[in-house]
Amino acid sequence: MNLTLKNLNKIAVLGTGNVGQAIAKALSSKNYNVTIGTRDVSQTMAKDKPDNMGNLPISIMLKENTNINLSTFQEAIVDADLIVLAVGGSNVFSVLDLAGPIQAETVVIDITNPLDFSKGFPPSLFTDSTESLAEKIQSKYPHIKLVKSLNTMANSIMLTPDVLKDQGSNFICGNDSGAKEIVKELFVTFGWDKTSIIDLGDLSGSRGMEMILPLWIKIFQSILILK
Ligand SMILES: NC(=O)c1ccc[n+]([C@@H]2O[C@H](COP(=O)([O-])OP(=O)(O)OC[C@H]3O[C@@H](n4cnc5c(N)ncnc54)[C@H](OP(=O)(O)O)[C@@H]3O)[C@@H](O)[C@H]2O)c1
Repeated sequence: MNLTLKNLNKIAVLGTGNVGQAIAKALSSKNYNVTIGTRDVSQTMAKDKPDNMGNLPISIMLKENTNINLSTFQEAIVDADLIVLAVGGSNVFSVLDLAGPIQAETVVIDITNPLDFSKGFPPSLFTDSTESLAEKIQSKYPHIKLVKSLNTMANSIMLTPDVLKDQGSNFICGNDSGAKEIVKELFVTFGWDKTSIIDLGDLSGSRGMEMILPLWIKIFQSILILK
């Protein structure tokens, strides 16, 4: 069945971090059937304290949002109409391996960034300017319809753009125009103005979207320092 906004129901959000939590909460507030994927449900639920960055564990969020499910990456994608990739860039391929086969033609929104923290902060990128992480994912999984978006903004804005006075730019790109249109329509239902959604064309547009991160991090750092 071709995905439309009308038949969109089950959404798998792969990732239990800040991004996965924010996206899952927003989607669930619009009554989508949301399942978050993790490696090990009982280990994840056993974490009940903020991590060393102060991020709240998902167990707390799930207690307040009982309509959101948590399952393994593999179970989460079963019959999913839409998949959202919300894990660190360096873990994307392990997570996709754990998830197992994704149904052909599934629309996958990729929010990840190819950040390399191996030398500490600020991170560098582990990709070069000729092939983005999104392109690497699409090339390994040619049967899915990958749409890159939301990776250039804070998770507190992604599906709640009304918190901004000026929405700025929400970049999007992907090789399948139909998949992109559905994702754009979905964004509009969350308050994104059509004129703020900037379509960069095919997936090669994701190179710039990912390369913006070093600048994004510098700005973020300078705001924190100024505070
Ligand atoms: N933070 C933001 O506001 C923001 C903004 C724009 C884009 N992004 C991008 O969004 C993505 C998600 O960010 P985040 O901060 O929410 O993610 P995160 O906390 O780094 O990712 C958490 C997820 O990664 C999984 N994971 C960790 N190590 C793993 C490993 N070795 N193998 C397999 N899975 C592993 C965890 O699995 P378990 O659940 O099993 O622990 C968890 O589901 C990143 O690519 C980030 O660059 C973030």
